[in-house]
Amino acid sequence: MNDTLLRSVLAGFAFPGALAECAEIKTGHINRTYRLTFREGINTFAFHKPEEVMENVALVTEHLRRAVEARGLDAQNRVLRVIPSREGRPLVYDADGGAWRAYNFIAHAHSVDAVESPEQFGIVGRAFGDFQSMLSDFPIEKLHDTIPYFHDTVRRMDNFEASVAKDVAHRAECAAAEIAFVRARRDAMGAIVRMIDAGELPLRVTHNDTKCNNVMVDDVTGEALCVVDLDTVMAGSALYDFGDAIRFGASTAAEDERDLSKVRLDMDLFTAFTEGFVSRTARGLVGAELDNLVLGALVMTFEVGLRFLTDYLDGDVYFRIESPDHNLARAKCQFKLLSDMEAHRAEMEAVARRLVNKFL
Ligand SMILES: Nc1ncnc2c1ncn2[C@@H]1O[C@H](COP(=O)(O)OP(=O)(O)OP(=O)(O)O)[C@@H](O)[C@H]1O
Ligand SMILES: [Mg+2]
Repeated sequence: MNDTLLRSVLAGFAFPGALAECAEIKTGHINRTYRLTFREGINTFAFHKPEEVMENVALVTEHLRRAVEARGLDAQNRVLRVIPSREGRPLVYDADGGAWRAYNFIAHAHSVDAVESPEQFGIVGRAFGDFQSMLSDFPIEKLHDTIPYFHDTVRRMDNFEASVAKDVAHRAECAAAEIAFVRARRDAMGAIVRMIDAGELPLRVTHNDTKCNNVMVDDVTGEALCVVDLDTVMAGSALYDFGDAIRFGASTAAEDERDLSKVRLDMDLFTAFTEGFVSRTARGLVGAELDNLVLGALVMTFEVGLRFLTDYLDGDVYFRIESPDHNLARAKCQFKLLSDMEAHRAEMEAVARRLVNKFL
């Protein structure tokens, strides 16, 4: 089949993304078989307005560049730079409407998918702390709310209650213990939203995906060079970024571990990240932020568990699953981690307090 004919056939299918590669598999005798590889651009399902995502990224990276240069450092390999289209736009659209963008490549650097030591996690903490502190004077009203109500825990609890009431997938009975777990924490876990609404917690630039694989580390020195993956930068609380990093990075198990006896908070990892983070932010964050870092970890763990549980009740419409009860297993895992944090909360608070005082 010639290329034009093949493309006209492929255009008839609702494949996601743009065709990147097409190879004929020449083993069959009757039919022609092709192996197709697609590249997905910005996920326009999660982001309804990719232009607003890129406007946020452009503003934040420009601010970071100035901050890095003000420190006398070369921004070239330390800050993402949006490479504009020939028309000067931040996005290029393919024929299928997929949105694409390009950045400078952070050279001689790598990221790790899982931290191997507290020292390594400390470096990640410093990287996100630096990110926060370099953006502390960012004009926050300029950012678009690209995923509205992303961390509105109170609203997420209302949605959850609606899902329990509807029970479209007839799963509420199987999740009775988890539903009770959520309800018992309804008030306590709304605390960050209430403090923001009351003006006690300031809105700041938040990264919203503070995983270690979003920090590029220098191949030679092992020090952090650059924070990447800025699609979710929005206005939020610094506690979200701190809390989610702890939730994901300081857990002793994977996000969907079924053997709950393996799921705990690793106090050494918690300490290392907190030390790195507050070493860069202790003088920039306000008292209400520094006093509530541990609350951030609890609320983010609760929120992610709540999202998994809600999706389980809704019949798995949002998260990709690998088994029918995958979302329930994920929720149980987050709630086990949260229970462990609750049991060690006083210890966590003491560590955080000591480290904040060290860098104030
Ligand atoms: N500008 C860059 N220069 C060098 N490496 C990069 C750059 N941007 C991203 N990477 C590498 O590619 C990986 C994936 O990129 P990115 O995190 O932006 O994609 P993603 O699809 O959002 O990934 P995930 O969903 O896992 O967070 C990063 O973890 C990093 O190692
Ligand atoms: Mg990433």
